[in-house]
Amino acid sequence: MITLQGIRKVYPAGSGAVCALRGIDLEIAEGEFVSIVGRSGSGKSTLMNILGCLDTPTSGEYILRGQSLAHAPAGVRAEIRNREIGFIFQGYNLAPRLSALENVELPLMFRGMPRGERHRLAKSALEAVGLGERMQHYPAQLSGGQQQRVAIARAIAAHPPVILADEPTGSLDRSAAEDCLALLGDLNRLGHTVILITHDAASAARADRILTIEDGVLRTGT
Ligand SMILES: Nc1ncnc2c1ncn2[C@@H]1O[C@H](COP(=O)(O)OP(=O)(O)O)[C@@H](O)[C@H]1O
Ligand SMILES: [Mg+2]
Repeated sequence: MITLQGIRKVYPAGSGAVCALRGIDLEIAEGEFVSIVGRSGSGKSTLMNILGCLDTPTSGEYILRGQSLAHAPAGVRAEIRNREIGFIFQGYNLAPRLSALENVELPLMFRGMPRGERHRLAKSALEAVGLGERMQHYPAQLSGGQQQRVAIARAIAAHPPVILADEPTGSLDRSAAEDCLALLGDLNRLGHTVILITHDAASAARADRILTIEDGVLRTGT
């Protein structure tokens, strides 16, 4: 489903360039739950941004579901991103003035989905994450764990095949983190390919396969 070959990413910087990824090779099969662990600064978010079509590599090849994306035009990447990938970030990234339901509907609206369908998918995603009773709440009225669940609902509402989670439990207390990881496991069992990026080995252990990234180099574990 996902193939990375020789992915390198160099960020130009004032005095000297930073080489954030130094030749990443990776294959992820459909339906896998993979975690990528590494210390801060090891290149995790850079890798996630490339996997998520938010950024392009300096060199190397990226194939997602048969389509070559490393050097695809921004419009193509945006379309793939919308259709194939659900994102979950550490900071939830919810719009404060929108209700939980409106937050989940927003990306569906950007895709031009008709109102009724949008509403139905958003409701069902919020129910799936256990927030059926909180749909009209605003982010400030929700706990951190609940806000992250809204973000998860937003990520899955359109049923993307791939879910990319970058440090999703980084701002959560232990019990909310546990719920969030359990939800990722549930989504994987429902058929989503899940890629979990974390600096925490215990969270990473939830996956079928754990990869370690160190200074821009990926080491394959089991
Ligand atoms: N936009 C950028 N410009 C320059 N350097 C960057 C940029 N983003 C990340 N880096 C550098 O690339 C390396 C990897 O960063 P990142 O992928 O964010 O690591 P992680 O997510 O594992 O903490 C770090 O040395 C970081 O300082
Ligand atoms: Mg990061």
